[in-house]
Amino acid sequence: MLFLAAFYRNNNCIALLYGFDIFTYFRTMQKTLLITGGAGFIGSHVVRLFVLQYPDYHIINLDSLTYAGNLENLKDIEDRPNYTFVKADITDEQAMYDLFGKYNFDGVIHLAAESHVDRSITDPNAFIETNVMGTANLLNAARTAWKNDFTNKRFYHVSTDEVYGSLGAEGFFLETTPYDPQSPYSASKAASDHLVRAYGNTYHLPFVISNCSNNYGPNQFPEKLIPLFFNNIKNNKPLPVYGDGKYTRDWLYVVDHAHAIDKVYHNGKNGETYNIGGFNEWQNIELIKLLCEKMDHKLGRTPGASAGLISYIKDRPGHDRRYAIDATKINKELGWAPSVTFEEGLSQTIDWYLKNEEWLDHVTSGNYQNYYQEQYTNN
Ligand code: NAD
Ligand code: DAU
Repeated sequence: MLFLAAFYRNNNCIALLYGFDIFTYFRTMQKTLLITGGAGFIGSHVVRLFVLQYPDYHIINLDSLTYAGNLENLKDIEDRPNYTFVKADITDEQAMYDLFGKYNFDGVIHLAAESHVDRSITDPNAFIETNVMGTANLLNAARTAWKNDFTNKRFYHVSTDEVYGSLGAEGFFLETTPYDPQSPYSASKAASDHLVRAYGNTYHLPFVISNCSNNYGPNQFPEKLIPLFFNNIKNNKPLPVYGDGKYTRDWLYVVDHAHAIDKVYHNGKNGETYNIGGFNEWQNIELIKLLCEKMDHKLGRTPGASAGLISYIKDRPGHDRRYAIDATKINKELGWAPSVTFEEGLSQTIDWYLKNEEWLDHVTSGNYQNYYQEQYTNN
């Protein structure tokens, strides 16, 4: 209630500035967009971009605030008049119908998901529930609310390159590469991609899908490689490298991914898929050595000190050897390309984590310690 009052007051203040009431203010908005998972890593960058770039869009950020969701990520924009946060779970079917009944959404950008491969190995059902059933709930709610009149509507499903499986030493993932998911996480994402396409085919729901490579940047939860290793280097803890460390990933700065999502949402063709990647492949061990080097420099340590923390441990079960995206289609058709080099992006990321110690302290207290113990002890 308090929140609602503050929210109303805030918006009314803005409305007064414009010289009319809050209801007129929202009516003048061009679009109402639902972004799911907006309190997470990528979602928070997408929400920020849309809220700031499109002041005439009303952005509704729906997130259930799992361990990975964090409203601190959006402190700088939370008072913007065109932003509303809704705490809800996409696995709650009725809540999704209610939400679509309340807001007349023009479009959905769906990012909410369980996203960490290691957790999917320990607890696959959470991934099936959120990623598969949650996506189905959103599709059903959209279809019902839009009453099969899809004029100017769009459902954008944000997915991953992991649905294509693992590459050998050569080749790239194309939009036409057959699906071959290998982990419970990627299988659940593949299932959700298939559902979205099936709703497009069966009910003519207008959709777009993008499949992106590994993201890095500010606000990433320290269970993923780069922030986890940053945190361990900072605290002089061992750096747990899975297997031989020669697994390869294609890395993209998260803000560049958010810009790609903007392009796909606004200019992508209905029914199409766009691969998004950084043209930036690294073997894990080479990336880790670069991170150690940069951290030595930034922390004023003796060169080589952080690399001394590298510790090879038991491999991740079913570990995909190599991912590499061919992002030619989005580049040629939508004019998108990454804007920062990996050197720049990694430096900015390290600087952000160094400056935001409090953010890291908050997310690494409590349950994180239990997760870390279970994942890395006896490996
Ligand atoms: P994340 O784990 O940081 O954030 C996920 C967000 O979804 C969190 O805020 C969480 O609270 C929310 N969420 C989870 N379950 C929910 C539920 N049942 N109901 C409502 N909200 C829920 O993930 P991320 O890395 O930001 O990834 C976002 C999306 O992008 C995911 O769909 C992921 O598959 C995809 N993706 C991620 C990467 C990457 O490198 N991180 C790359 C390609 C695609
Ligand atoms: O490719 C896109 C995907 O990238 C996204 O869909 C996922 O949501 C995202 O988590 C990411 O998946 P990865 O499994 O590639 O990311 P992760 O950061 O977990 O691992 C990157 C590589 O580093 C991988 O080869 C495993 C390795 N690794 C990871 C951790 C956490 C280690 O060697 N040690 C570790 O402790």
